[in-house]
Amino acid sequence: MKILLTGGTGYIGSHTAVELVAAGYDEIVIFDNLSNSKLDVVDKIAKIAGVTLEFVEGDILDKAELKKLFSDYKFDAVMHFAGLKAVGESVEKPLQYYETNVGGTVNLLEAMQAAGVRKIIFSSTAVVYGEHAKVPYRETEPSGQGITNPYGETKHVVEEILKDLAESEPGWQVAILRYFNPIGNHSSGLIGEDPNGIPNNLMPIVMKVARGEMEELLIFGDDYETPDGSGVRDFIHVVDLARGHVAALKHLHEGVQIYNLGIGEGRSVFEVIESYERLSGRELPKRVVARRPGDLAAYWAAADLAAEKLNWKTELVLDDAMRDTLAFLKG
Ligand code: UD1
Repeated sequence: MKILLTGGTGYIGSHTAVELVAAGYDEIVIFDNLSNSKLDVVDKIAKIAGVTLEFVEGDILDKAELKKLFSDYKFDAVMHFAGLKAVGESVEKPLQYYETNVGGTVNLLEAMQAAGVRKIIFSSTAVVYGEHAKVPYRETEPSGQGITNPYGETKHVVEEILKDLAESEPGWQVAILRYFNPIGNHSSGLIGEDPNGIPNNLMPIVMKVARGEMEELLIFGDDYETPDGSGVRDFIHVVDLARGHVAALKHLHEGVQIYNLGIGEGRSVFEVIESYERLSGRELPKRVVARRPGDLAAYWAAADLAAEKLNWKTELVLDDAMRDTLAFLKG
């Protein structure tokens, strides 16, 4: 089975490439513009997976490049990771986010349609549930209401596009995967999350502080109505998340399926920090500051649908993610 991974050198795409090969899917083509990743990731995937994957540098905004890609390769399925994902930046540059995440996806879907490729796995986010959804978030909850940033809106819009497309034409097999908070990296420490610029998310910031590239970790609020007052999220190990994609591919069938990919329980910011400090044996310079505007107190996934339909569940825990993060830092 020939599989296209857009954004395949990125954090989640690269880990998924490794898990696909491990599951026997080794005909993979990575298509990436390297805007937030590095070319050497391709070699690192090869080192871990024992197979060299094909790499094509290109952009989903370039229709001609996409057309060529689909004529050069006869794909059976697409995993679409390419996109912009910095929440703060999306507030400042909404047009860029709509152009890349929505426009780029439309380009990709058009190229797929023209080439007769109708299997797609799409990277969505728990943010589409919006701020009023009941916790734990279930796939049956309405989505698209109370989304707090343009990034989340773009993911919601693409979900709607995929539903409309599958409705308009028989044969489409679509899996929409709603990620919770991916952390950790491959246990080899070779690949991991390494965003360009100033990171937004908790673990990349923890890593910067650990490397001494940032002075201290700011903990955004200890006065939430949560057991220890800090924010609570569903932190899923990226390798488990990657395996969720393999499971979704195996279980693709006609129509649109939506699955949460999360652990199914919430852990707090303080628990994450405690785990990191215990395993590293080093205390992080840190300070509690005011809540970050737009943050929710606590949410996590109801993970039973993916368990039932995809025969998938998470195997790794918070300490595994921290251990692997330490391996990546040593890198
Ligand atoms: C964010 C995005 C979400 C994206 C996800 C990727 C929003 C509204 N949502 O979620 O779209 O899919 O990242 O993982 O931004 N924290 C600190 N100090 C820091 C950074 C974070 O205390 O320096 C806390 C936050 O307040 C939050 C938790 O850590 O309670 C997780 O934050 P973060 O990693 O940024 O993820 P989310 O905000 O949950």
